[in-house]
This record gives sequence, structure tokens and C-alpha cells, in this order.
Amino acid sequence: MPIFFIFFLFLLISSVQALSCNKLDHDSLLSFYKQISVPSPEIPLNWSSIDCCNWEGVACNPESRVTRLSISGRHLSGTITPFLGNLTFLSHLNFSHNRLSGPFPFTLFQSLNHLESLDLSYNLLSGSPNYSLPVSIRTIDLSSNHFNGSIESLFFRGVPRLISFNVSNNSFTGPLPSSICITSSFVKMLDFSMNKFSGNVSQGIGRCSKLEVFRAGINSLSGWLPYDLYSVKTLIEIYLGNNQFTGPINNSIALLSNLSIIDLHENQLIGEVPKDIGLLSNLNQLILHTNSLNGSVPPSLMNCTSLKTLLLRNNHLGGEIASLDFSPLQKLEVIDFGNNSFVGNITVSLCLCRSLIAVRFAYNQLTGEIPACMAGLKSLSHLSLSYNFLSNVVGAFRILIRCDNLSVIFLSGCFKDEPVPNDGHLLHLNGFQSLQILSLGGSDLKGELPSWIGKLKKLKILNLSYNQITGKIPKWLGSMPSLFVLNITRNHLTGELPREIGNLKALVSDDTDSNLSNLALPFLSDSLQFNRLFNVPRGIKVGNNSLSGNLPAELGNLRLLTELDLNDNDFNGSIPNELSRLVNLEKLDMSGNHLTGEIPESLKKLNFLSSFTVANNDLEGEIPMGGQFDTFANTSFEGNPKLCGSVLQKNCPPSSAGGEDEMLPPAPEEEESATSLYAIPFGLGYSVGFVVVVISLLFRSSLKCFN
Ligand SMILES: *[C@@H]1O[C@H](CO)[C@@H](O)[C@H](O)[C@H]1NC(C)=O
Ligand SMILES: *[C@@H]1O[C@H](CO)[C@@H](O)[C@H](O)[C@H]1NC(C)=O
Ligand SMILES: *[C@@H]1O[C@H](CO)[C@@H](O)[C@H](O)[C@H]1NC(C)=O
Ligand SMILES: *[C@@H]1O[C@H](CO)[C@@H](O)[C@H](O)[C@H]1NC(C)=O
Ligand SMILES: *[C@@H]1O[C@H](CO)[C@@H](O)[C@H](O)[C@H]1NC(C)=O
Ligand SMILES: *[C@@H]1O[C@H](CO)[C@@H](O)[C@H](O)[C@H]1NC(C)=O
Ligand SMILES: *[C@@H]1O[C@H](CO)[C@@H](O)[C@H](O)[C@H]1NC(C)=O
Ligand SMILES: *[C@@H]1O[C@H](CO)[C@@H](O)[C@H](O)[C@H]1NC(C)=O
Ligand SMILES: *[C@@H]1O[C@H](CO)[C@@H](O)[C@H](O)[C@H]1NC(C)=O
Ligand SMILES: *[C@@H]1O[C@H](CO)[C@@H](O)[C@H](O)[C@H]1NC(C)=O
Ligand SMILES: *[C@@H]1O[C@H](CO)[C@@H](O)[C@H](O)[C@H]1NC(C)=O
Ligand SMILES: *[C@@H]1O[C@H](CO)[C@@H](O)[C@H](O)[C@H]1NC(C)=O
Repeated sequence: MPIFFIFFLFLLISSVQALSCNKLDHDSLLSFYKQISVPSPEIPLNWSSIDCCNWEGVACNPESRVTRLSISGRHLSGTITPFLGNLTFLSHLNFSHNRLSGPFPFTLFQSLNHLESLDLSYNLLSGSPNYSLPVSIRTIDLSSNHFNGSIESLFFRGVPRLISFNVSNNSFTGPLPSSICITSSFVKMLDFSMNKFSGNVSQGIGRCSKLEVFRAGINSLSGWLPYDLYSVKTLIEIYLGNNQFTGPINNSIALLSNLSIIDLHENQLIGEVPKDIGLLSNLNQLILHTNSLNGSVPPSLMNCTSLKTLLLRNNHLGGEIASLDFSPLQKLEVIDFGNNSFVGNITVSLCLCRSLIAVRFAYNQLTGEIPACMAGLKSLSHLSLSYNFLSNVVGAFRILIRCDNLSVIFLSGCFKDEPVPNDGHLLHLNGFQSLQILSLGGSDLKGELPSWIGKLKKLKILNLSYNQITGKIPKWLGSMPSLFVLNITRNHLTGELPREIGNLKALVSDDTDSNLSNLALPFLSDSLQFNRLFNVPRGIKVGNNSLSGNLPAELGNLRLLTELDLNDNDFNGSIPNELSRLVNLEKLDMSGNHLTGEIPESLKKLNFLSSFTVANNDLEGEIPMGGQFDTFANTSFEGNPKLCGSVLQKNCPPSSAGGEDEMLPPAPEEEESATSLYAIPFGLGYSVGFVVVVISLLFRSSLKCFN
């Protein structure tokens, strides 16, 4: 009996509660619900019960007025109705990480007088903020949407409680709205980055006297760095990278003692690194690369003992590296002084920075040897010293082999006329087992291709171009399990191109891990090409040597190859038909050899081939027509007196073609049908190729952000 009674009471109470959901709020939510949808594989919003206070993402106050609406990451699409403005008790609105689109109804702010927190981040919302924020607002996140227009001071007419304001990653234009600091003196976080704000940053930011994080990187801001920034003692992070700021960094930045991150890279800043920077004992990241800073590195920098990341590359800095004592920087992980004018020996004090992961001094004027103590850098993964004036490459490798974690070595163009490091020591130590990139080109190194390289199981990229390497290309190269870029251009190699090259696993099948993204420290690279590690074209480049004999048919196994340079050698015989199996090939250079016979008709199958030359050989017969062959200029074929075809404006004698037909009756028919079969896909391949190129260009330019 009593159980039945309790159950009855429960029913009664819950129905009272159900009735208690405010009608206005209920209708307002329903009109929102009507304009959104959840795509089918996802679970739909559970908004079926009577009491709207029980709906998913909804919370009410004791008076059953809706105070929170939080539906994040639910794949919602559709638009936001202005009827939400009837939720007059709403304090938290969170629609982050959905696919809501259309203009956001800023008029909502008129009636949402209790709104404290608004999070619309990661949607597709548009429009320009044209209505004042409610007085109650504390945090606002409009980031990663499609908002545009300028942010007028009207927006911040009276927002005394504002703490956090994030509009990053939109398309806002006009001046940076520094008027925000006039009404919001408690603001701690301002993020304006990744927009199109332009012009000088007028005075005003200084009034945000509690500001901790100030980001406005990746915009088009210009003029001097806003002067009153230097008076905001609470600042922890300043990010103004990727703008067009000019003028000096005032030394008074060193008085902002809480600073942990200074990122001013890619501007046009001049003058010196602030001499009192050492006062910033909390400084974790100093990122000033790609400016026009000059002078030397202030010795006081070594008092920044919290420093982890120090990027000063691409400036006009100089001075003796050895005059700097890096030893206090025990937390330093990444140092990049590349593309400056530093001179002298590499300082041994660097060896005492035990946390170092990446060291780059490429493109300076450093001299001397790699100090032996570098063998103690057990965390070192990336080393780039290319284009300096170092000596003793053999000694360098004996030292570096003891850095067990090295995965990238760039030492191109820094040794001259020395022997290739090739001693038993290197072979027997079984070192460099983490190495993925070895670049040791442009150094006129002498000797044979060293066999210790053959034991590098993880090596993906080997560059020994522009040296004076002699002897044959060893057969063991073909058994390297990870290699997909081999650049031995311009050496003195002789003998045949071994057929074993056709076994290179990482060029035959996609199973091998050819992803370099785990190495993503792109700032360390030698060249622009390696700045885009994700996109390194898979290539075999053996041009400008003295290789001879026939081209091995096994090259045709390298299905994933995109670049093949065989130019300027002494290859003879005919072009193997098997090359037509290199379906990913974009560049094929066979010029400057003694190749004979006809250009195989089957090469027309190479739909992605955009650069092709067989100039200066001894080829004969008709140049294939159709496919990519219609796009190659006459220069691709010149220097072959016996070649004919419309590209060369030289008609082929009809008799000779007929004669060959008679000699090999079935073959031409096969070719004929193959041609017609491929006629349509060619065009398709070309446009697909174009799309791929465009996408990869876009991808590359987006990667620039990582610099
Ligand atoms: C929907 O929410 C109600 C409470 O509001 C709950 O009782 C019901 O189990 C939920 N349904 C689903 C399918 O989650
Ligand atoms: C809800 O809001 C809309 C738009 O602001 C308004 O037109 C409508 O009258 C409101 N509904 C009620 C019941 O007040
Ligand atoms: C919005 O919701 C997401 C997911 O629950 C959460 O991570 C985020 O912090 C919320 N935003 C605010 C401002 O509370
Ligand atoms: C604000 O912009 C919206 C469109 O984004 C427009 O419909 C509305 O009239 C504008 N309101 C004001 C006050 O300008
Ligand atoms: C601003 O929002 C973006 C996401 O759109 C986020 O990556 C960034 O960290 C936020 N800014 C701050 C200072 O939290
Ligand atoms: C920028 O916003 C778009 C759209 O919301 C998003 O897809 C992208 O990931 C955001 N980019 C960053 C760097 O946060
Ligand atoms: C904002 O973008 C829309 C299209 O998305 C465009 O029509 C409008 O002119 C832009 N407004 C401003 C101020 O740039
Ligand atoms: C911006 O600042 C620079 C240098 O501080 C000054 O020369 C220039 O006149 C300013 N431009 C505007 C539009 O205020
Ligand atoms: C730095 O600011 C001070 C005023 O605090 C000024 O006297 C000095 O000229 C400024 N230095 C530079 C290089 O702008
Ligand atoms: C580093 O700090 C110490 C103690 O705070 C100080 O004596 C020294 O002068 C500073 N060094 C430099 C180069 O500023
Ligand atoms: C630089 O190092 C070389 C040895 O590598 C040494 O002979 C020379 O004295 C050093 N020069 C300076 C200025 O320390
Ligand atoms: C490899 O060789 C080519 C010549 O084919 C040269 O131009 C290029 O710079 C080399 N690439 C690298 C990464 O060293």
C-alpha cells in the first residue's frame, strides 16, 4: 500500500515539475530546435520530454528558468534563431564545435541581460558584431568561424566584467579594437590572431592593466609595437608574429617580469635583442625569427633559465658564438640561430644544455670542428649546421654516432675536400639507428659510398649530391628498407645502375612508414624543400655522374617514384618499356646520355608526368603523340637527329613507320588499342594531377604557419 502511495506521489511531483518548465523558455528552445538538425548517423538531440529543464544540454534555476544551454560537439547544423533572445535568464551559451552557419543574431544581446559566457567557437557562423555586448558578459569566444567586418567600439560599450575575449581565426578587418580596454579593465585574455586586422595598434591596450595573454599574430598590423604594451606588468604572453610591425623592441619589455612567451616572428623589427632580456626569469619561449634584428645576442639572455625555445633565425645577428655561455640554459630544447652571421667555433657550453632536442646554426660563418662533447647530448634529435665552414667530417660522425636519438642530420655544404666518413668504426658501432634524414651534399667529399649507410634501417632521405664520390653504386642500396629519396647527383660514380635499386621497399609499396610528420620540427631544415617534410617528393637522382650500361628494367618496380633523374651520364641501350609502370612519375630526365631506339609509346600512360626530357641522346623514330606528350616542348627532344614528329616540326618518313609495322605486326595494334583506351583518362589524369598540385600548394602554404 505505502509503496503504491509513494509511487503516486512521485508521479505527481514529476508532473508538477514538468509543468513548471517556463513556457516562454520552452517555446524559445523549440523554435531553436526547429532550425537545427543532427545528421543521421549521430544520436539526435533528446528533447522529447515535457520539461525543457531536463533536455540535453539545458539547465534551469530553481524558478525553472533556463540558465544554461550547452550543446557542444554534436554536429549540429542549421542557423541560430533570434528567438533564443527570449531565454532572458540565460547565463551560459555554448555551441562550440558544431556546424552552425548563417549570420549570428547579435540582437540577442539586447535581451540576454544575464549572459556571462558565450562560446560559439568552431562553427561556420558569419556576420559582423553590430550590437553591444550585454553588461553581464565575462567570457566571449567567437573564434574559428566566418565572422567578418570590423569590430566597432560600440560592441564594448559597457562590459566591465569582461575577462576573456577570443575572436581568432575569422575574417575581421579594420583596426584592432583597442577600445576594449576602456570599458573592460579586468580583461585577462585577448586573442585577435588569424584575422585581417590592419593599421597601427593605437594606444589603449595599456589600460588593460590585468592583461595576461595578448595575441594578435597573423594579421596585417603595422607601425611600431604598441608602446603602452610595455607598461602592462601582468603580461604572460605576447604573440604578434606574422604582421608588418617595424621599429625596435623596446628594452623595457624586460620589465614585464611575468613574461613566459614572446613571439614576434615574421615582422620587420629592427634594432637589437633587448639587452636586459635576462631579467625575464620566467621566459619559456623567445621567438624573434625572420625580422631584421642586428647586433649580437645579449649575454644576459643566459639568465633566462626557464628558456625552452629560442628561435632567432633569419635576422642580421652576429658575433662570436663562443663568447656565449649557454650552460645556464638547462631547460633549453630548441635553438635556431640559422641564417645569420655568427662566427667562431661552436661553443662547448652548448653541450651542457642537456635537454637539447634540436640545434640549428645553418647558414652562418661558423668555423672549427664539431666539439666532442656533443656526444653527450642524448636527447638531440635534429642537428643542422649546413653551410658553415667546418672541418673534420670524419671526426664529426665519430662524435655524432654517440647521440642515440639523432633522426635528422643536415651537414651539407660545410666541409670541403675531405674524405667521406667511412671507417670501420662507423660500420661496427651499429649507430645512427634512429636516423631518418642524412644530408651531406655540396662538400666535394672524396671516396666511395660508405657501407655503414647500408645499415641505417630507418633512413628515408639520403642526400650526397655535389660531392666527388667515386666507385660504383653499391647493390646494398636496394635493400635499404625505408629509403625513398636518394640524391647522388653530380658525383663521379661509374659502372651500371644496379638492378637491385628496383627493390627499394619504400618505393615499391605503401606499407612502409613514409610519413615524416613525426619529425615535424620544420624550422630545422636546410632548404625550403625540407621545410615541407610532409611533401618531400620520392625521388631517385643520379644525374651528372659517369654511369654507363643499360637502364635496368627493374626501375619499373618503383611504383611510388615521383622523380627520376638519370641525366648527364653515359647510359646506352634503349629506354625500357617498363618505365611506363611508374604511374606516379611527375619528372623524368634522361637527357645527355647515349640512349638509342624509339621512345616507348607506353610512356603515354604516365598521366602525372609534367616534366620530361630525353634531349641530347641518339634516339630515333616518331615522338609519341597524345597524353602528357602533347604538353612537352621541343627542348625535351632536341639533340636527337633521328627523332621526328610535329613537336620538332619534322615529318616522319611514312615508309619507315610502315616498314616497322611489317616487321612487328601485332605490337602496333596493341599500342593502338591501348592509346584509344587511354584517350579519355589522359585528360582526366591531367586535371586530377592539376587538382592534386593545387591542393598540395595550398597545404604547403598553410604549413608556413609552422615556421
Ligand atoms: C531522454 O531524456 C530523458 C530525460 O530527460 C530520459 O529519461 C530518456 O531516457 C532519454 N532518452 C534517451 C534515448 O536517452
Ligand atoms: C520571442 O522572441 C521573438 C524575437 O525576438 C519575438 O518576436 C517574440 O515575440 C518572442 N516571443 C514571446 C512569446 O515573447
Ligand atoms: C563549451 O563546451 C566545451 C565542451 O564541453 C568545453 O570544452 C568548453 O570549455 C565550453 N566553453 C566554455 C566557455 O565553457
Ligand atoms: C546587424 O547585422 C544583421 C545582419 O548580419 C542585420 O540583419 C541587422 O539589421 C544589423 N543590425 C544593426 C543594428 O545594424
Ligand atoms: C582562441 O581560440 C582558439 C580556437 O579557435 C584557440 O586555439 C586559442 O588557444 C584561443 N586563445 C586563447 C588565448 O585561449
Ligand atoms: C579555423 O577555423 C576553421 C573553421 O571553423 C577550422 O576548421 C580550423 O581548424 C580553424 N583553424 C585553426 C588553426 O584553429
Ligand atoms: C562579410 O561577408 C559577406 C559574405 O560572406 C559579404 O557579403 C559582406 O560584404 C562582408 N562584410 C564585410 C564588412 O566585409
Ligand atoms: C603608424 O605608425 C607609424 C610609425 O609609428 C607612423 O609613421 C604612421 O604615420 C602611422 N600611421 C597611421 C595611419 O597612424
Ligand atoms: C624605449 O622607451 C623609452 C621610454 O621608456 C624611450 O626613452 C626609449 O627611447 C625607447 N627606446 C626605443 C629604442 O624605442
Ligand atoms: C645574471 O643574473 C645575475 C644574478 O641575478 C647577475 O649578477 C648577472 O649580472 C646577470 N648577468 C647578466 C649578463 O645580466
Ligand atoms: C677553434 O677550434 C679549433 C679546433 O677545432 C682550435 O684549434 C681553435 O683554437 C679554436 N679557436 C678558438 C678561437 O677557440
Ligand atoms: C638533389 O639533386 C638535385 C639535382 O637533381 C638538386 O638540384 C637538389 O638540390 C638536390 N636536392 C637536395 C634536397 O639536396
